[in-house]
Amino acid sequence: MKNRKPLMAANWKMNLSLDEARDLLNGVRSAKIDFNKVEVLVAPPFTALQLAHALLTETDILIAGQNMHWESKGAFTGEISPLMLKGTGCSHVIVGHSERRALFFETSDIVNSKVDAAIETGLIPIVCIGETLKEREDKKTFDIIRTQLNESLKTNCKKRNLPQSVILAYEPVWAIGTGKTATPEVAQKVHLFIRRWLIENFDNNTGETIRILYGGSVKPDNIKELMLQPDIDGALIGGASLKADSFLSIAKFYES
Ligand code: PGA
Repeated sequence: MKNRKPLMAANWKMNLSLDEARDLLNGVRSAKIDFNKVEVLVAPPFTALQLAHALLTETDILIAGQNMHWESKGAFTGEISPLMLKGTGCSHVIVGHSERRALFFETSDIVNSKVDAAIETGLIPIVCIGETLKEREDKKTFDIIRTQLNESLKTNCKKRNLPQSVILAYEPVWAIGTGKTATPEVAQKVHLFIRRWLIENFDNNTGETIRILYGGSVKPDNIKELMLQPDIDGALIGGASLKADSFLSIAKFYES
């Protein structure tokens, strides 16, 4: 029996007009969700954050930014600060998503600065890690995951202290948006590796408390099996989070 409360997080990426966002948010907020059994979070694009804040304010649904800069303000054209996210109702922020790492050259060093800034600002970072297909085929998965963890959480490793609210997300790059999900057993192996890394670098309690989400082609028909794995504590959902019915049937995995 897991003591960790599952989290189902919708990563909308660069999708949905304001009208579409309103429809989706209305669909999600009007559903009957048992918040004793699951935490639910949406990460809309920046342009829909205010709308999400207005529509979700009286609900238990959480809001996250998809990215942010690590400075609180200044001459950084095109960037959004941790304080701005907080001011728009965000409690969480996704950092180090593989699309940011691969397409926008975000290094683990940058991710570490963002994790530090999030924690300082009182935002909960959802820190993403994951190997590419080539790295998996070369049998480097665990080395890559270890290096990404060491570097993306460098400051916390040095202090040997990680707030237990921090969330990790294992997203094998080869499974994102491809329709290829890691089998529950393959995902579980990596999740267990991550949990052992947490115990080694921090302590038992931190390792047992921190939630590790799985991401990569999560769908209504594979969530249940994934959630049966002892170290999978929820999901980061891209494509299937853009429709209320598919997102909700994932979020309400406990009913099936
Ligand atoms: P996907 O995306 O569910 O569309 O594979 C997951 C993610 O990138 O967070």
